[in-house]
Amino acid sequence: MLGKRPMQDMFDIQNRVARLRDNINYHNHRYHVLDAPEISDGEYDLLMQELQALEKDHPEFVIPDSPARRVGAAPLEAFGSVEHEVPMLSLGNVFDHDGLLAWHKRVVGLLEGAPTDFVCEHKMDGLAVSLLYENTRFIRGATRGNGLRGEDITQNLKTISSIPLLLPKDAPDRLEVRGEVYISRVGFAKLNDDRAKAEQPLFANPRNAAAGSLRQLDSRVTAKRPLDICVYFGRGQLPAVHWETLQYLKSMGFKINPHSSLISNISEAQDYYNRWLEQREDIEYEADGIVIKVNSTSLQQRLGSVGREPRWAIAFKFPPIQATTRLLDIDIQVGRTGSLNPIAVLEPVSVGGVVIKSAALHNQDDIARKDIRIGDIVVVQRAGDVIPQIVAPVTSKRTGAESVFKMPEHCPVCDSAVIRSEDEAMSRCLNANCPAQGYELLKHFVSRNAMDIRGIGKSLAQALFETELVRDVADLYYLTEEQLSGVERLAEKSIANALASIEKSKERPFASVLFALGIRHVGEETADVLVKTFGNIDGIIAASEDELLAIDSIGPKIADSMVSFFMQDDNLMMIERLRQAGVKMESDAGQQGDLPLTGQEYVLTGRLEMFARKDAQVRLKKLGASTGSSVTQKTNYLVAGADPGSKLAKAQKLGIEVLSEDDLLRILNRYE
Ligand code: IVH
Repeated sequence: MLGKRPMQDMFDIQNRVARLRDNINYHNHRYHVLDAPEISDGEYDLLMQELQALEKDHPEFVIPDSPARRVGAAPLEAFGSVEHEVPMLSLGNVFDHDGLLAWHKRVVGLLEGAPTDFVCEHKMDGLAVSLLYENTRFIRGATRGNGLRGEDITQNLKTISSIPLLLPKDAPDRLEVRGEVYISRVGFAKLNDDRAKAEQPLFANPRNAAAGSLRQLDSRVTAKRPLDICVYFGRGQLPAVHWETLQYLKSMGFKINPHSSLISNISEAQDYYNRWLEQREDIEYEADGIVIKVNSTSLQQRLGSVGREPRWAIAFKFPPIQATTRLLDIDIQVGRTGSLNPIAVLEPVSVGGVVIKSAALHNQDDIARKDIRIGDIVVVQRAGDVIPQIVAPVTSKRTGAESVFKMPEHCPVCDSAVIRSEDEAMSRCLNANCPAQGYELLKHFVSRNAMDIRGIGKSLAQALFETELVRDVADLYYLTEEQLSGVERLAEKSIANALASIEKSKERPFASVLFALGIRHVGEETADVLVKTFGNIDGIIAASEDELLAIDSIGPKIADSMVSFFMQDDNLMMIERLRQAGVKMESDAGQQGDLPLTGQEYVLTGRLEMFARKDAQVRLKKLGASTGSSVTQKTNYLVAGADPGSKLAKAQKLGIEVLSEDDLLRILNRYE
C-alpha cells in the first residue's frame, strides 16, 4: 500500500495540471476572445500561479502549448490579422515588496553594477495596442493578440481622438508606438448607465468595455465609446532612455501618463507603489498595479527577455479589493423585460472603504457553478465602480446549515409561471401584464434618455401603477388633473408638474420614443439606426426579420425580439394610442430644415484615410447636408484628405473653410 502512494500522488498532480490547463484555456477564451469573463482577475491569477508552480516543480508534465507559457488568445477572424515586427511582450508580476526586491536584485546582478535609474508607471487596466506611423502618418493600428500576431483595428483606433493621425514633420520616418487603450471611470459609469437604461447587458468593468469597443466591426460604434489611450513605448529613431522617449512622444502629440515618475533607486519605487495603492480609487481610470522599467534602452537590451517577459520591467500588482461576509439571502428582482434577477443580500461589510450590502449574482447557472449557498461566508470583490461581485464561497466555513438556492417557479410579483429558455441562462416571467414589468417599463419610459418625463418620479410611478391609473405607458397621455388629484399625498404643484412634463414629452424625437418603448435589446444606438433606416413606426412594424438582419448593427437577437414585440396586439394598440395622443412616431428628417446640417454643402477631396468617400457622403446626407463634386461659391466646406490637388487651391482662393478628416469625424460624431 505504502509503496503505491507516490505513484498515486504523481497521477493526481498530472491530472490537476491537465485540469488547470483546460480551465485556464477556457477562461482565457472567455476573457480575450469573447470579452465575457466569468471569473475575476484575482481568481484567474490564482489558477495561473498554481499551474506555473506545478509546472516548475514537475517539468515532466509541461507541454509546449500550455497556457502558462502563452499569454493572450488567437485573434478573432473578422479582422485582418497583423504580424508584429517585434513581439509585443507581456510583463512578469510580483505581488509584494519581497518580490519586487528580488526582481531588483536580479537586475542589479545581471548588470554587474552598471548604475541605472528606473521609470515607474501605473499598470493601466486596459488593452495594449500598437500604432504604426510611416512618413508622419498613422498607417496601421493593431491589438496585441497573442503577442506575435494581433488584429488590424486601424479604423477603430482612428476614432480615438487622443491618437494623433499626423505627426510633426521632423518625426522619425518609421515609428511604432505602443500604449494602453482604456476607458476612464467616469466614461465607464456613463456608458453602463446608458446600457442599463437600454436593458443592454452591462460591461463588467472598464477593461471589458474598452475591449468590446475596440473589437467593433463597425467603427462608428467605436467612435461613440469613451475610449482613450496613454502611450508607454516607442520604436524608431528615439532617445536612448525611456523617460526621454516618453517626453519626446508627448512632444509629438501623444498622450503619456502624467503620473509616471523617474526614480533613482528601488526604495523610491516602493514609495511610488505605496502612494498609489493608497489612492488607487482616486485615479481617473482603473489601475491594477504599477510597472517599474529600467530607464536606459541599452541596458534594457542587455537584460533582454525570457519567453514573453522582459527582464527589464516588472509589474507590481495591487491586491484585489476583497472582503468576506455572510450571504444572508438571495432576493429576486423582476426586470422590465420580465427577467428574474437574483440579488445577494449580504451582511454589511466594508470593502476598500465602501460598505456593501448587496451584490450581483447574474443567474442561476452562475450561482450553481460557483456553488454559492444561502448562509455561506462568501468572498466579495469590488472592482472600481461596478456592482460588487461574489467571487466564491468559503467552503471551509460551512456548518451544514446552508441551503442551496433554487430559482422560483413562479414570478414573485404576479405569481405566473416562470420560463427558462434554452439559449439563455435567464429565467423570465412571461406575463406581459406583470405589475413588476409594467412598473419597471414605466420607470424606463419616463427616464431622461427616453421620454424625459421629469414630473414622474419613482413614488408617483408606483402610485400610478398601484391605483391602476396607468396600466400601460400610453395611459400616461390620457391622465386628467381630476384623476391625479385622487392620488394620495400628491400636491397640486406636483400634479401640474407631471401633466406639463407629459405634454412636453410629445416633442421628444422619434428615436427616443422608440427607445422608450422598452423593446428588449433595442437600446439607444439601435433605435437611432432603425429610425434612420425606416423613418417611421409603420416601416419598423412592417419590417421583416430578414430586412432587419440586413442592417449592419442588427443581429438575430434584436431582430427576433422586435418581431415578437410587434406581433402582440397589446403593443400595437399601445403604439396607436401613443400616436393619437400626439407622441412622435416618425423621424423629423422628413420635414425639411430640421436636420443639423441642412443647407450646408460639403465637397470631399483627396485621399481619405478614415472613411470610404461614398460612406462619408451618405453620412453627411443623412444629416441633411448636400455634397458637391466641385468647389463653387455655394460650397460651405471642403474636406481635404491627402494630396488634395486643385480643389484645395480653389477653396482657398474663394475663402471656403477647409476641414480635415478629424474635423469631419467630429462633426459626424456630434450629430449622428
Ligand atoms: S509595458 C515590455 N507599461 O500590461 C513592455 N504595460 O502584462 C510591456 N500595461 O500588455 C508593456 N500599463 O497591456 C507596460 N505602463 C505600462 C502598462 C502596461 C498596462 C499592460 C499592457 C501589457 C500588459 C502586460
